[in-house]
Amino acid sequence: KGKRAFIAGIADDNGYGWAIAKSLAAAGAEILVGTWVPALNIFETSLRRGKFDESRKLPNGSLMKITKVYPLDAVFDNLEDVPEDVKLNKRYAGSTKWTVQEVAECVKEDFGSIDILVHSLANGPEVAKPLLETSRKGYLAAISASSYSYISLLKHFIPIMNPGGAAISLTYIASERIIPGYGGGMSSAKAALESDTRVLAYEAGRSKKIRVNTISAGPLGSRAAKAIGFIEKMIEYSYKNAPVQKELLADEVGNAAAFLVSPLASAVTGSVVYVDNGLNAMGLAS
Ligand code: NAI
Repeated sequence: KGKRAFIAGIADDNGYGWAIAKSLAAAGAEILVGTWVPALNIFETSLRRGKFDESRKLPNGSLMKITKVYPLDAVFDNLEDVPEDVKLNKRYAGSTKWTVQEVAECVKEDFGSIDILVHSLANGPEVAKPLLETSRKGYLAAISASSYSYISLLKHFIPIMNPGGAAISLTYIASERIIPGYGGGMSSAKAALESDTRVLAYEAGRSKKIRVNTISAGPLGSRAAKAIGFIEKMIEYSYKNAPVQKELLADEVGNAAAFLVSPLASAVTGSVVYVDNGLNAMGLAS
């Protein structure tokens, strides 16, 4: 029987979430997507108008099918969390049921269960600021959107995940090494995400035999990364200094994610898996 995947954090065809969706679709999974509410309209319109058709192509020539797109804002667990100004915000008022709990309920109603949960989202409003200049509010916002969101998604989706299922998220080496420019508490958020991956692997493993891993990915010129400002420099640095000197393709991260959530990785859980052309292993720029 085919697997069903819910992928949180796709709003265009440039990011890691999209590439993971494609790898999973190529392996036969049914694809459900959670798209950030403010980005929903343009994503759905672009999908409908065929703007992504070229990048929907799978290795066998068919086009990836997205069964359903759900509006999602992963910083809100349920309606009680949503402040008035967000409720009234034009970009949110057009959609309903986009808190994590409501999305999980909708997926349950529509499909009953899922096998694979993908967390491919992050947000740090002060990412361009050094840590010493980051406000408490900005720091907590980064943790809320980029780390707690994984806990919240798992908390609400585990009840509808089939035993033997798996979850995966995306992290970055700034969690453990100094990456100047990756500010606003985003380095802290990734450190939390990696630590939580271990504890969540324990809890989800014991309760439902669900595996939880994270991929530490190399630099990719996604929309989120471009907002940080130094992504081209990071890509160049990686190309120059990694053991394998080649462009890192989003599809390579997609394929590693498909492996990690598949039965081929049935004994891998609680891991941070590097998919970065090996850059993490270098001790000195070369
Ligand atoms: P992306 O822009 O394709 O994905 C980020 C997504 O998060 C966007 O679709 C955005 O709409 C969504 N999002 C932001 N706040 C949200 C919220 N509150 N609720 C729901 N969705 C929300 O960019 P990318 O780079 O592919 O990011 C995916 C993951 O990969 C992130 O966790 C990122 O930190 C990680 N990563 C990216 C690297 C890079 O160089 N691009 C390197 C290592 C990790």
